Amino acid sequence: MLIQNASWITMEGAASTVVPVFRRIFSCSRISSAVLEVTCDGVYEAVLNGRRIGDFILAPGWTEYRKRLQVQSYDVTELLGEENTLEITVANGWFRRTNAPWTGTSNPDEFLPAMLIAALRLTADDGSETVIFTDEAWEVSESTVTLSGIFIGEDVDMTRSPAFRPAKLCSFPKSMLIPQEGPEVREQETVYPHSSFRTPRGEWVIDFGQNLTGYMAFEIDARSGEKLSLSTAEVLDRDGNFYTANYRSARSQLHYICRDGRQAYKPRFTFFGFRYLRIDEAPEGFTAEQIRAVVLHSEMKRTGWLESSDPMLNQLFSNIIWSQKGNYLDIPTDCPQRDERYGWTGDGQIFCRAATLQYDVRQFFRKWLADVRAAQHENGWVPEVVPSLTAYKPGGAAWSDAVTIIPWQLYQTYGDISFLSDMYGAMEKWIAYIPSVSTTEDLWTGCWTYGDWLALDAPEDYHPATIELSKRGYSNDDLICSAFYANSVNIVIRTGRLLGRDVSAYEALYRRIVSAYKARFGGCLNTQTEKVLTLHFNLADNPRQLADALAEQIRACGMKLQTGLLGTPYLLHELTRYGYADIAWSLLLRREYPGWLYSVSRGATTIWEHWDGIKPDGTFWDDDMNSYNHYAYGAVADWVFGAACGIQPAEPGYARVRIAPQPDPRLNSLSASLDTVHGRIRSAWKYTDTGIRFEIDTPVPAEIVLDGTSRFVEKGRYLF
Ligand code: BGC
Repeated sequence: MLIQNASWITMEGAASTVVPVFRRIFSCSRISSAVLEVTCDGVYEAVLNGRRIGDFILAPGWTEYRKRLQVQSYDVTELLGEENTLEITVANGWFRRTNAPWTGTSNPDEFLPAMLIAALRLTADDGSETVIFTDEAWEVSESTVTLSGIFIGEDVDMTRSPAFRPAKLCSFPKSMLIPQEGPEVREQETVYPHSSFRTPRGEWVIDFGQNLTGYMAFEIDARSGEKLSLSTAEVLDRDGNFYTANYRSARSQLHYICRDGRQAYKPRFTFFGFRYLRIDEAPEGFTAEQIRAVVLHSEMKRTGWLESSDPMLNQLFSNIIWSQKGNYLDIPTDCPQRDERYGWTGDGQIFCRAATLQYDVRQFFRKWLADVRAAQHENGWVPEVVPSLTAYKPGGAAWSDAVTIIPWQLYQTYGDISFLSDMYGAMEKWIAYIPSVSTTEDLWTGCWTYGDWLALDAPEDYHPATIELSKRGYSNDDLICSAFYANSVNIVIRTGRLLGRDVSAYEALYRRIVSAYKARFGGCLNTQTEKVLTLHFNLADNPRQLADALAEQIRACGMKLQTGLLGTPYLLHELTRYGYADIAWSLLLRREYPGWLYSVSRGATTIWEHWDGIKPDGTFWDDDMNSYNHYAYGAVADWVFGAACGIQPAEPGYARVRIAPQPDPRLNSLSASLDTVHGRIRSAWKYTDTGIRFEIDTPVPAEIVLDGTSRFVEKGRYLF
């Protein structure tokens, strides 16, 4: 990359909170091609002759910056004239973010000044080349953005005039610069106000009718100095008032001081998670029609569609899609709104299978998995969030196991073995780390884990010492860790075999783990999640008996799930695998708390973090940890594709397919379409007067299993 020959530049003496605009004025003629390479220690927006360069929002994206900082390359030939002004504004972004107080950590890069590095290559008609590098010929001024941050929102003062002075060279590493790897974050769609009203408290609120991730955009007439101040919210409180406490320390606001005349604006260096906007202050004559919401997410092609005869189920499917869109903004995040928005590895692996069915996420994960490798410590430890926080907590079971689970899932969905070969070394390092911290040979015990996070199975008289412990349900930590250890070793074995490696030592280790697991935990599988994990990872001596006990336990507690983040994604799969599809359906179709359709009945348009984020009486679960856009429980989409409609890869990448639908008379019809690398698979069923009608399209040879009977068919369309 040419940029390696450029110098980092900065605004001398500016505080880290200053958002500078760097400028280079130049003339040129007879240029046939112009390419700009650029990156910064924050997020930037580049403009040539008044026109934005490229569509990448929040470039250069979020990576494990000190090891990998992406450089974008833009063809700017079309924007070039003879007299040119190139302007690049650099805001704090993720690189220089302030870590939220709850992390107990500080970001070592927080107080760096804004820095820019760029190279513009101009190729003339005669083939000669000139390169404009960032250097002291550039100028810099404070920009109209007076405050900006991912968790801070944006303050803008359009009355400010620039005062340019020479930029300064500064020394900052270039060794971490890499070409762009991930798909770009772009504006994807526009949502217009659904309604606008006064709350009981008198607040002026706009409802977009959809919880989303992105920003607001407006076009207004104003006088210089008038102000437009907007706050965002995901939900209203019980009384219908604007509610922001669940953002915690994140300041989810835009403050815009107008210049004279007609003007359009949208935040340039931040994003919000919201459904509602409150107009805190506005220029005279401002109306709700002047504003709209712009949805942001990483570029990814839709590949999966679900549709049923039940409007509530369809709303759930829509909510899962919106939560994926809202949380696939450059990295897979837990939530897009509060002072978090981190690449939680646990949430990432939990939702990964559903994600691969709904969208083509190959490029998205290829980049993020490279960050997982970069973030992995020398001793094999994989952090709980990637890109990493410095020293928050040791990554634990099910979170750090993303290092094995995600590449394995990508291989299953797409059949691309490079996901496995790229990650094999990291997987091996991870499973070598576990015995170095475990207190028991061949098991994983005595270590920190988030457990079955948010499970509902603790007895009422259980009052653990900390709030964090109280959120982890009642499953045995050592069992959870050991089950995931077995699973990760098993993935390493299967991966190693595919790659032609000698895995005999891992095979022996796996046998020892399984027998130690059975001996230690086999007789005390109490919670739903303990049973589900034991079944899912094939660690039961008598799986049928265990599945019967699981089914009985669910019935005995009133046909309710009690599982948290870890048990829930596998629960319906395991019930179905052992002949209890009817119970799986009961759980899915349940409209009361706890269940997927409860939030739908409360008007949810995305997946909630808690089953009862809003309780039946309209109060909130909690202010502190209450996201309304948290995709983890949306993992159930993979059961609808894979079990309810029964589309399973019989070979990685769906090169051959097994289709074994599990219809249930409580639903009249259901269909799933899946665009695989081999073409579109469709599986649909519908109850008719004469029985069930199945429609199956397969682009590859398939085994179709209906009522326990298998038929092997070639590619084609089949009706039964
Ligand atoms: C996040 C989760 C995450 C968890 C760790 C939370 O604050 O939002 O989804 O996995 O912490 O237990």
